[in-house]
Amino acid sequence: MKFIIFIGIFLSTILIACSIWSSSGYLRRDFEIRDEKGDVSAVILLGAYVKDGKVTAWTDCSTGEIFRTSERDLEYGYLYNSHIAKYTGTEENGLKEVTIAVSAGKNELAPTMYETIAEIENSYYEHCSSCHAAPIIKHYPKIQWHGIMDSMIHHASMEDKESEDIKRYIFISLQKQ
Ligand code: HEC
Repeated sequence: MKFIIFIGIFLSTILIACSIWSSSGYLRRDFEIRDEKGDVSAVILLGAYVKDGKVTAWTDCSTGEIFRTSERDLEYGYLYNSHIAKYTGTEENGLKEVTIAVSAGKNELAPTMYETIAEIENSYYEHCSSCHAAPIIKHYPKIQWHGIMDSMIHHASMEDKESEDIKRYIFISLQKQ
């Protein structure tokens, strides 16, 4: 009997370990990392890629902003407490490469980056096609989108959360080749 319990515990430990190790995919929602006191140490944004429970990102350490690559092509979030980031020893374009532990469950990770924005897509068409046809996102470069969104948010009187989601939708859509 004891032996069976022992085997049971052993197998479930392996199962749990495997599910943590194999948790790879793109975040379906913004993910907050909190310290023991409950303060937010980092926010990792929807669409960031988690591999084996870790996000690899680039930061300049001064603003706390983190990016997917050293070219700053896609924002990955904010680091409020740099101690939770592990420096890999690599520097490029003035940014440091770090890894951050993200304990997202399997159901919080999507297999492709596109799936993470599928839900926001409706919001984009709902808010951005009432005065003109919803623009084709790739017609405008990222740098121009910042200004366009500032003026459209003003036109469309959206909630902060809605406009943040739509911006994320636009910036992730620009990544897709
Ligand atoms: C209340 C009406 C209204 C809504 C809602 C609206 N727009 Fe516009 N949009 C306009 C008007 C008016 C213009 C043309 C004048 C201007 O650029 O302000 C325009 C122009 C644009 C342009 C062209 C800009 C350029 O420089 O060529 C883009 C791109 C755009 N809108 C995107 C969006 C997006 C994305 C949304 C949703 C977040 C949105 N719009 C929602 C009224 C709106």
